[in-house]
This record gives sequence, C-alpha cells and structure tokens, in this order.
Amino acid sequence: MAVQAINDGIFCIDIQHPDRKMFDCIMPTEHGTTYNAYVVKGQTKSALIDTADPDFTKEFMDCVDRCDVKVIDYVIILHTEQDHSGSLPVLMKKFPNAQIVATEAVAKLMVTHLHIGIEKFHIVSEGDQIDLGGRSLTFIKIPFAHWPDNTMVYESTTRTLFSSDLFGSHYASDKIFATNSHEIKVAARAYFAEIMMPFSAQVRKYTEKVIELAPSIIATAHGPIWNQPSVILQKYMRWTSDQVEKTVVVPFVSMHGSSALIAERLCLQLASKGISVLSRNLGKKPDSLVVQSGLVMRDLVTAAAVVFVMPTVLGGPHPAGAYCSMLMNAMRVKTPFIGLIGSYGWGTRASEIFAEMTSNLKKAERLPSLQYEGLPTEEQLVEIDRYADELAAKIFQLGDRLI
Ligand code: FEO
Repeated sequence: MAVQAINDGIFCIDIQHPDRKMFDCIMPTEHGTTYNAYVVKGQTKSALIDTADPDFTKEFMDCVDRCDVKVIDYVIILHTEQDHSGSLPVLMKKFPNAQIVATEAVAKLMVTHLHIGIEKFHIVSEGDQIDLGGRSLTFIKIPFAHWPDNTMVYESTTRTLFSSDLFGSHYASDKIFATNSHEIKVAARAYFAEIMMPFSAQVRKYTEKVIELAPSIIATAHGPIWNQPSVILQKYMRWTSDQVEKTVVVPFVSMHGSSALIAERLCLQLASKGISVLSRNLGKKPDSLVVQSGLVMRDLVTAAAVVFVMPTVLGGPHPAGAYCSMLMNAMRVKTPFIGLIGSYGWGTRASEIFAEMTSNLKKAERLPSLQYEGLPTEEQLVEIDRYADELAAKIFQLGDRLI
C-alpha cells in the first residue's frame, strides 16, 4: 500500500491486491490488481477521487490518514462498481461533512448498488467544474468505458487526467508509474480485451478526445499510472481500429482425439501459408476453462480469424467451447472471419447452435462449417488443408487492414 505524490498537490492512494487471480469471475488477473484513488489539494479545498474495494477499506482509510488532509471537502465518485466505491460508507463516517460529487448516472447506480440516498449527491454534468482554490476539476463523461456511468476528471494546471477504468490494467507492482516493460503492455491489452473491447467504437472516440486534451499524466483506477500517455494512447488507437494481424486463433476441445487431430492439421497448414497461429486447449486442465477462455479474448484483440474446433456433446457444441464462444460474442470481437470445425458421435446441431451463440458478431464473415462423424479420414484431413489455404488467402486479401 502506498501514498505517493504523482504531481504538484496530487497524491495516489495505491491499494495493492497482488493475490487477486480473477476479476468479475471471468477475467484472469495473473499479476493481481490495484485500486487507485487520488487526493487533489487546492489552496482552499481538497478532493478525494474514488475509494477502494470494500475488502481493503481498512488499508484505504489508513492511506487517507497518511495523505495529511484534515478535511476532505469533496468525495468524487467516477464509477459505481464496488472496487472503486465500496469503501465510501466507512469514509463518510469519518468525513460526514464531505460533499459526494458524481454524475447523475453514477448517483442512480449508487442508490441501487450501495443503498446511498440520491439526496446525498451533488450532481455534476459534462464540463462542470469544482473549484479547489487555484485549481479546478472538470468532469468528462465516458459512458460504457466499462459501465454506463464511467466519468473522467481533468486537472488543467498539472494536466492530470483521472481516467477511471479507461486505460487501466490489472497489474500490481511496487512501481507506481508504468515502465516501458512488455509485461505491462500485455497486461493493459488483457484488460482492454475484457473491459473495453465490447465498447470499442465509444472507447476509440474517448481515446481521440484524450489525445486532443494532451494530458501529461493519465491516472487510471487500476494498475500503473501512465506518465508517458502516448504509450497507452497509441495502443488504444490500434486496438480500437479495424486493423488486424495475420493471425488465426484456434480454441479447441477434444474428448477422444478427433478434434485435436483436426486442430493440429489446421494449425500446421495455416502456418505453412505464412499465417501465425495461436492455439489454446480449452480442456487442458480440469479448472482451466475460464483462464484459457480469457487468454483467447486477449488473442482476439488483433486476430484476423478465429476457428473453433470442438466435438458435439448431446447435439450441441461442447460446453467448454460453448462458454468460450459466448464470451467472444459478449466481447464483440472485431475478428473478420469466424469458423467452426468439429467431430460428432452420431448426430449434431453444433453449427446452428454456434451461429446462435455468436449472433452479436454480425460484421464477421462466416466460414463454411465442417462437421465429421468420428475420426477424420485422410480425405477429410485434405479438406481441412484446403479450408486452411482458402482462409489464408482471404486473410492476405484484407490488404490495408493488415498490420
Ligand atoms: Fe474497476 Fe468497472 O470497475
């Protein structure tokens, strides 16, 4: 736990949760996470931006004490989700005269999620400012940069942008600022995949707005603070663009080896055509499905195609593949080509059910579905080679869309 000055009169309360292995029960967080709150001191007033996860209220309150603020005039809530608002009830017991400040969207959700009365809030709108004496905080709404209520705050004298969930990462570290490490960029991409990717169009507009604003620091609600904002802004411009890499993601499940054989043949043939392949075994370990599916979402941020390979179980796609497909559907991946290949015992409706489970992905071209009864024959494996060749050709035809 740390309290650290990040700019003139601005302090970060950085609550570390390195042991957290999963977020929202869907997102693997192998580097843990942090819950970042901020204190901004003006000449006459002080504001606290966000709180911390309720499991860390004691640590959070200890850090508030260490910020050396006798009075908190404003408690600003940028987003209702409990990892940022959960310590508010205890905080308000210590600072009962503080004014809670939030947009209407936040206030309404706080009523239902934390049972805090709407009358407790001072409601702000887009562009409203709060004066702290010699500096002010300006509110910028960023709906669906996770939830409908997410909000940013900008402090113009130091050009510090408090970005809520936007530009965050689940990455616990003793370094408060992002270094140029590959690992931090990978963590930011993983976070983008499962938090921001479903709202890619809106997130792109917010990123363009932030580029125009040209902050010197982006102080996020999770993970390291960006003191070279261009690093994360460039990444977001790429991840929210239409551009893709010459990569095919192959999530597969195999009960008796037939689907594994198909996946292997497909991957080898794609690779022989100059396509990168990311293959993930969704049934690798008894408890690995959520983790493997989360990794697939990261792979899909810039992939040109995804081909699921899975057997039929009781007429439909194998439940492990079904889970991963439905997650992909929820995350609204931009992948231009989607395919399904599988094997079945005596009958299948896997193709129709897979199409229904991925119905959000309307822009994607559907590749022909191949379903084989039992162990694929040599002739059928040759058909998979042709399928791979045709997919590789389609990917190369993407032309300017390729990175
Ligand atoms: Fe970090 Fe959407 O809460």
